[in-house]
Amino acid sequence: MKMPRKITFTVNGVKKQVEVKDNELLADVLRDKLQLTGVKQACWRGECGLCTVLLNGKPVKSCLILAVEANGAEIVTSEGLMEGDKLSHLQKSFVENGALQCGFCTPAFTLVTHYLLTQKPDASEEEIREYISGLICRCGTYNEIVKAVKQASQYYKK
Ligand code: FES
Ligand code: FES
Repeated sequence: MKMPRKITFTVNGVKKQVEVKDNELLADVLRDKLQLTGVKQACWRGECGLCTVLLNGKPVKSCLILAVEANGAEIVTSEGLMEGDKLSHLQKSFVENGALQCGFCTPAFTLVTHYLLTQKPDASEEEIREYISGLICRCGTYNEIVKAVKQASQYYKK
């Protein structure tokens, strides 16, 4: 049996070294070894999108990536969107617009829409809907999520 190996990556701006097995998923390592519980898992096969993190700046489903593949990478989880101990403008907009019920999907939606707004702060409603279409909210808060993203977009405009 292969021995675990050490990998190093930067998570939410902090360098971390962890021991992982070759077959360990990035999602499991972030949740179980680094206690970043904003990384949710519902399907473990790339369908729900709830395990999304930013890997080298782009959204990826961390249940489809081996932890060893993230060696040397920069990772941001929803915890990393916070501004110190305060919610970011985007996260606050989710709260203010009722864009969450159980909140299980919220970390992934905030990460994905944060990425969208950094790329396209003037994204239209249709573009926002298209962009979040790969994520599943079982509580059905899609309309409120779109409103929250529209409200927060002002903070991404230069
Ligand atoms: S747990 Fe990764 S896409 Fe569902
Ligand atoms: S708010 Fe419950 S799954 Fe989205």
